[in-house]
Amino acid sequence: MQTLTLTLPDDFHVHFRDGPMLAETVPATARAFGRAIAMPNLSPPVRTPQEALEYMDRLRKALPPDVEFEPLMSLYLTEATTSARIQEAQRLGILAAKLYPAGATTNSEAGVGDLEALYPVFEAMQAEGLLLLVHGEATDPEVDIFDREAFFIERHLRPIIAAFPELKIVLEHISTEEAVEFVNDGPPTLAATITPQHLLLNRNDMLAGGIRPHHYCLPVLKRRRHQEALRRAAISGSSKFFLGSDSAPHERQRKEASCGCAGVYSAPFALELYAEAFDQLDALDRLEAFAGHFGADFYGLARNKSKVTLVREPWTVPLKIDLPNGGQLVPLMAGHTLHWKLAAR
Ligand code: NCD
Ligand code: ZN
Repeated sequence: MQTLTLTLPDDFHVHFRDGPMLAETVPATARAFGRAIAMPNLSPPVRTPQEALEYMDRLRKALPPDVEFEPLMSLYLTEATTSARIQEAQRLGILAAKLYPAGATTNSEAGVGDLEALYPVFEAMQAEGLLLLVHGEATDPEVDIFDREAFFIERHLRPIIAAFPELKIVLEHISTEEAVEFVNDGPPTLAATITPQHLLLNRNDMLAGGIRPHHYCLPVLKRRRHQEALRRAAISGSSKFFLGSDSAPHERQRKEASCGCAGVYSAPFALELYAEAFDQLDALDRLEAFAGHFGADFYGLARNKSKVTLVREPWTVPLKIDLPNGGQLVPLMAGHTLHWKLAAR
């Protein structure tokens, strides 16, 4: 039997949601991760440091007993965010703020329309050391959905980086070769997260032979060339690319609908899913740094001290997960065989 022992990883991009859903999502992530950045796109969003602390409390209350797990909090930037709010966030231990271009994705309606209006806030974040987490997709309806990331990078992200050379920026859930190149060529203040679905799938897996709503997420899966660029980036050993699952649960009936929600639920098996991708690329020796070192280093956090162990053992991802409210989630790769399983933490 083969085993793989890794530094306990962190997940730098998770949608836990709120309310009864937390009984599913928080234990799911805490099972294999030591920390996770909790995305603030609740409805209504987490806009103030006070709201973030209250949300952190709800996340902590949803933890199983004796599990060591630390939710890391982020603020949702709106056009009403002030520099004073950023300073307060810093004082209260909030690490980051998330930029959602208005209308780009789930619960982004309160996001930012005019990015330049936010420059004073970016200035404050740079001064306070808060990270800027970016949903990097243009929202101009004229821009083709497959081009929105590349367009955002050139039109919006490049100027932000030029204007704020000390602001740490994470381009979240990158989905294109253009993003990989941009991050690789960018300054050391720029990094990116990569999801398991963007490593394991391309748009054929969503659209060929029938539409598969459970593979629909934003940024939308791209053609194979992009998947391959992401796979190369993940296993490259570059510390600019690290784990952020973007686990984003939506109940089955909201995915399997005439207008289905964007988001893939991967939390319960996220580490196994990444192991699968790295194994496919014969690069399991690169998994530990991607999952447990580079993200912590970029955030300026100490790496976790404890370990997790995966064993090589085929198993089948369940077809569904039942929620406390009677609803269901369909996890990423439902019904598929994976080859690594968490054995111990
Ligand atoms: C996320 C969600 O559902 O909150 N959806 C997604 O497709 N990734 C939002 C986001 O990260 O874009
Ligand atoms: Zn997300």
